Amino acid sequence: MAYPQAALAAQVSAALTTEFGPDYADADPLIRPSSFADLQSNVALSLAKRLGQQPREVAARIAARIADAPMCERAEVSGPGFINVTLSGEWISGEVTAQLADDRLGVPAAANPQRVVVDYSAPNVAKEMHVGHLRTTVVGDAFVRALEYLGHQVIRANHIGDWGTNFGMLLEHLLDVGEEAARADLAAGDINAFYQAAKVKFDADPAFADRSRRRVVALQAGEPETLRLWQMLVSDSRLYYNAIYTKLRVTLTDADLAPESFYNPMLESVCADLEAAGVARMDEGALCAFPPGFTGRDGRPLPLILRKSDGGYGYGTTDMAAIRYRVTELGADRITYVVGSEQAQHLAMVFTVARQAGWLPDRVRAEHAAIGMVTGTDRKRFRSRSGASVKLIDLINEAVSRAEEVIKDRYDEPELRAQIAEAVGIGALKYADLSVARESSYVLDFDRMLALNGNTGPYLQYATARIRSIFGRAELAPSDAAGPIDPAEPAERALALRLLGFGAAITEAVATAEPHKLAGFLFEVASDFTAFYEQCPVLKAGDPAVRQSRLAIAALTLRVLLTGLGLLGIPVPDRM
Ligand code: ARG
Repeated sequence: MAYPQAALAAQVSAALTTEFGPDYADADPLIRPSSFADLQSNVALSLAKRLGQQPREVAARIAARIADAPMCERAEVSGPGFINVTLSGEWISGEVTAQLADDRLGVPAAANPQRVVVDYSAPNVAKEMHVGHLRTTVVGDAFVRALEYLGHQVIRANHIGDWGTNFGMLLEHLLDVGEEAARADLAAGDINAFYQAAKVKFDADPAFADRSRRRVVALQAGEPETLRLWQMLVSDSRLYYNAIYTKLRVTLTDADLAPESFYNPMLESVCADLEAAGVARMDEGALCAFPPGFTGRDGRPLPLILRKSDGGYGYGTTDMAAIRYRVTELGADRITYVVGSEQAQHLAMVFTVARQAGWLPDRVRAEHAAIGMVTGTDRKRFRSRSGASVKLIDLINEAVSRAEEVIKDRYDEPELRAQIAEAVGIGALKYADLSVARESSYVLDFDRMLALNGNTGPYLQYATARIRSIFGRAELAPSDAAGPIDPAEPAERALALRLLGFGAAITEAVATAEPHKLAGFLFEVASDFTAFYEQCPVLKAGDPAVRQSRLAIAALTLRVLLTGLGLLGIPVPDRM
């Protein structure tokens, strides 16, 4: 199966070689949808200048060549030199029929499977996960699923913040309240309150601040009792975010934890090696790297601080250790950081220093898949009414209870209703995030995300339920629907051409680490299906061959939607 645009591009390139010689084979065929045919190629316009010939003349020569290809019904020159291509119905029919018969739905596995480390989610111990973590978790998880579908080997790296000077005050506070009481606080999900209480004491009480600093030293020295208490905080937080992962149906497990503390034993050598390599130097008592091209507002070089003047290491040191580890120990070909866009400069500095040190060879791609801000309907940073940051768990529960409200009249059976509400609520929340380009900020609006119309989770879920109900009425299992599919009517032809783009959509989403490209594709599939269903009777089709072909394209649509939603991590209820 071929993605029609790519297949036509290949035909045009071949035609360029035969007509004008191999030098022209690399010209971009510029394939676009056409309003007069299925597709058009605009290559002749740019090529004509290079060849010093008339664009229409050039277009005519290419059109004559590609018109012979089995995929083309007609290739005609129009306007100043566009080539309008009408695809052969027989070709489309063969391609979608083959797609239906293919377990992979025509999605090719990657030609060069890579080992990809994906750094995502990364909440902080003893701090509440916030909406920003929702985005990196959801986008990261969709990305890893799509990578794996293409046959890449993925290493999920949950770089949780479980280390640092904050832990001094957290542990002292824990001792003050008593272990049992502290655990009860944390188990109740009141993580922020715990953190705030510690911070208030730290700022107000010098004796407490002193104790906290000594506690940091004990933690760094690995003093057993301190480590035991620290471990307690870490495990309690872990329980909390694992509960969130389960609710969100995110694939992260404890095996994917690569916490900051993991890199602790490497920090000393990170500093020593960077200094020895001449990439880092002492500056006002601190060891810093000054990667070229990064300057502050005052025009002075910006430091990536590796060892503070008090001897402590920081966030950046850990990231240097992590990037080295990911390349040398994990053997990464590609490292993707699904992290908030406010950390863009930090990560760019880490990448630059790693390249300077030779830790990140050119063959390894390191990228920041930046995540934009989540805002309220007022377009300001998302906050609760009281102005506090919103607990992620509350947000998830609200999505589910609002979904329950939306569907409450439709189901009598409480258990089924709860199940569907859960899938619709979680699906809506995740899809709202995944349907927006990850870098743009997005408005968290429950009413909009739960709407049954438009580019929403419920709309796509509903599309699958509707197709299932067609099969219910036909008393046929979708998996028993078989080709040939013969998309004769314009609406079925459009749907068929769309479905053939499934592989391209996934490949694109993976290449750019942008799951919204897959989401957008699925939305188009669902919309094309709606148009098809309005215009082409399925069960009432008179001719049995037509009925069978339409059932088959409906079955293919269902599988593409289910597979695509699965890759996005969107749960799909059987009924809606
Ligand atoms: N824990 C950090 C935060 O909550 C995100 C960590 C991102 N990953 C990394 N390797 N720096 O902002």
